[in-house]
Formats: sequence, C-alpha cells, structure tokens
Amino acid sequence: MSKVSVLFVCLGNICRSPAAEGFFKHLLVQENKAESFYIDSAGTSAYHEGAPADGRMQEAAKLRGYELESISRAFDFKKDFEKFDYIITMDHDNFQDVLDLAPDSEAQEKVTSMVSYCTQHDVNHVPDPYYKGMDGFELTLDIIEDACEGLFEKLMDENKL
Ligand code: 4NP
Repeated sequence: MSKVSVLFVCLGNICRSPAAEGFFKHLLVQENKAESFYIDSAGTSAYHEGAPADGRMQEAAKLRGYELESISRAFDFKKDFEKFDYIITMDHDNFQDVLDLAPDSEAQEKVTSMVSYCTQHDVNHVPDPYYKGMDGFELTLDIIEDACEGLFEKLMDENKL
C-alpha cells in the first residue's frame, strides 16, 4: 500500500512547520504507524533555505521529548501538489499563499488549516513565535501537538489505517 503523505507549511520553515513535522513523526512512532506515512515540511518563503529549525524551537521540543531534524526548504508548487495527499498550513497567510499556487480544484482540496484539527484549543491560527519569548514557543507547541493528535485520528479514519 502506498504511504499517506503529509506536508506541513509555514512561512520560514524554521519554527512552526518543523515542530509539526517533528511532533507528528514522534506520534506516528509511538502509535506504531510510521511505516504508513511520509511526512515533510516547507515554507512559503525561501528566507531560511538550508537552515535547521530555530534553536529555541529545537530546545522546547527536546524538553518535551522529540527532536526537530528538518532543514528549511521552500514550498515547491510544481512538485508538492503532486507528491502530497495533505498540505497543512499554519496561518491565514500560508493558507492563502499555498491555495493561490494550486493548479486545479483537486490540488486546492489538499490544502487545510492546522488549527482545524485542534480539539482542545479554540484558535484561528498557529501563532508565529519567531519574535516572541519562550512562552510563545510553548503555546505554539501546545497548539501544534493538539492539532497533530486530531489530525492523526482523522487520517487513520480517512485512510482506513
Ligand atoms: P515560521 O516562523 O514561519 O514558523 O518558520 C518564522 C521564521 C522566520 C521568520 C518569520 C517567521 N522571519 O521573518 O525570518
């Protein structure tokens, strides 16, 4: 069976989407489902291309028990709409930027908002912690972990895994 592929997208691909990628991979290992998925992340900008996740986000994630190993890359609409089943964006700007690049309605339907999977947090976007203190990183991780758990349940149902 082919793998279910998920791409997490934010602006810089150094804070929010690497955290989503890292936590979702960690969750899949815990649930013994890593073999059924292909997970990646990207940014709508190429500002940080080639950079590892922000050190503050790496540190916050490590204290929660998971590693962020992604290297920043820009969203590639030519390849990523073909390669991924689900493209999940962190805020309104990312959502609109990705949607604007979709070549057709099938591609548009792949794009959803990360917070739509939250069951514990009533928020309309995943806040960008880049210019904030450590509290900002903790809140962002709380929201991302909540969304990843909801996403996992949805993907298991939808793909009959
Ligand atoms: P991210 O956070 O989109 O969650 O990776 C940001 C990282 C860097 C910048 C903005 C947001 N920046 O302006 O450099």
